[in-house]
Amino acid sequence: MSPDQTSTLDEAARRLLHANWREGRRSDGVPYAFTCPATLRYRHQWYWDSCFHAIVWRHFDPARARAELRTLLRAGRPNGFIPHTAFWHSPARWRRAPFYGTHTVLGCSATATIQTPLLALAWELVADMSTDDPGFATEALPALRLHYDWLERERDPDDDGLLTIVLPDESGLDDSPKYDGVFGWMRHDRPGHLWLVERHRRLGYDAGKIVERYDEHVEDVLVNVFYALALRALARLDDEQATVYARRAARTEAALLERCLDERSGLFRDLAGRGERPVAVSTWSALAPLALTELPVGVRRRLVEEHLLDGRRYRAPVGIPSVSQEEPSFDPGFSLWRCWRGPSWVNTAWLLVPAMRELGYGEEADRIVGSLAGAAARHGFREYYNPLTGRGLAARGFGFSTLLVDLLRRARIEPSVRSPMMHS
Ligand code: GLC
Repeated sequence: MSPDQTSTLDEAARRLLHANWREGRRSDGVPYAFTCPATLRYRHQWYWDSCFHAIVWRHFDPARARAELRTLLRAGRPNGFIPHTAFWHSPARWRRAPFYGTHTVLGCSATATIQTPLLALAWELVADMSTDDPGFATEALPALRLHYDWLERERDPDDDGLLTIVLPDESGLDDSPKYDGVFGWMRHDRPGHLWLVERHRRLGYDAGKIVERYDEHVEDVLVNVFYALALRALARLDDEQATVYARRAARTEAALLERCLDERSGLFRDLAGRGERPVAVSTWSALAPLALTELPVGVRRRLVEEHLLDGRRYRAPVGIPSVSQEEPSFDPGFSLWRCWRGPSWVNTAWLLVPAMRELGYGEEADRIVGSLAGAAARHGFREYYNPLTGRGLAARGFGFSTLLVDLLRRARIEPSVRSPMMHS
């Protein structure tokens, strides 16, 4: 990328974030400020989108980054729960409302479900660039502790160190083929999904009860990778409780290694249902532990060498496909009803590319980032891109695709996100 191309992308990202910025007061007077993911299609505040937006905002306007994360905390409950989606300025549209994991179909200000919980990681990254507001790093420690304690208490019912999700969209990977067999006729793109949501409603979204009675739930690798990264970040932010959260991160990392790693393929498998069946579909989630610097370097290298560098699997002309090209379900194009079934998303590269660099695969890392930057320059910041042609697909002006700016700015993984290796 030439400096000119980089500054054009920077400018486009800045314009997009400004255009998607929403600020005001909810009907009950609570103030909000956040970036909606895409102005027409996604109008609300989504948990992981907001974390990603804040990570980009910190380069342009750290005050907005902080406001976005503070708003996300305010969307939560005093017990530490933070929702998947918050409906600040407009309620869910009636046609979409039954699909949201809310307590009642209409009239809720937020869902009762979660999304991949990376808030503490985003908080640390924003705090790193908040020299104008040094108190930011520690102001939310009580709330962040509550949040991660809530997750451990409510979402790890078998107490094995791995969080459980009860709806496929709780990971953010709504229609990923890895959920096809787990949720069956109730998967996210099927009418039966309405029944799954309704069944959870009747149980108050209580994961303990759901896990005891049914098989449609997953100990999800991607969710737990971000959970471990966030616990590490919290440990670094929180001098008083550092050892507590570092120990919990280590427990989750060890559980991923011991329970999810499939020695034969080198991939990390979700564990589904009461029987904790490993899910054999290869999606980028199975590669996500590459970002955990505490895992043995040999295990991480295998993910790169045998999967990311393999042209039959994840090495593609543009970005990193969300599903291995070898999978029968792989579909590189657009689908109106389904996402995460093949196209390349920017947050995937954002998680995996710095880890590739750290392990010495800098050239390949540059190629991936360059290919996405080329696609964004041609087609704008779209929701996702065709990994074979680079064509931009689905929503236009999509917020977290601006993570590319963050990726371009840090050629190397930031020191604060790196921690010493436990094994070698
Ligand atoms: C789609 C994506 C999800 C994202 C949401 C809002 O549902 O699958 O990851 O959070 O849109 O952008």
